[in-house]
Amino acid sequence: FMAPRSGATGLQKLVISAADLQEGEAKFFEYGGSSAVLVKTKGGEMIALSAVCTHLGCIVQWVKEQQHFLCPCHGGQFATDGTVLGGPPPRPLAKIPVTVTGGNITIG
Ligand code: FES
Repeated sequence: FMAPRSGATGLQKLVISAADLQEGEAKFFEYGGSSAVLVKTKGGEMIALSAVCTHLGCIVQWVKEQQHFLCPCHGGQFATDGTVLGGPPPRPLAKIPVTVTGGNITIG
């Protein structure tokens, strides 16, 4: 599903096919040694975020029915763009650059 690739900078990038992700769905992956998530919003926007909660570092979960992220540790909630919607997290989830070219999504 995802193949690691080295960019010119030496930073690892991930390339996936846009067809692999439906609107309203999220895919979790490893990025830079940590957990990250790619979400395709119901409006078709691609957003990649660190999946590490900014409160105490638990890994957030995607709640498809409500189209937001929920942290299982203390109930922190984040919007699809990483914005804090509720709970104790002090900051948004960190964004990861996403480029969509043709049918491919490049993350990182
Ligand atoms: Fe996520 Fe506390 S670690 S809400």
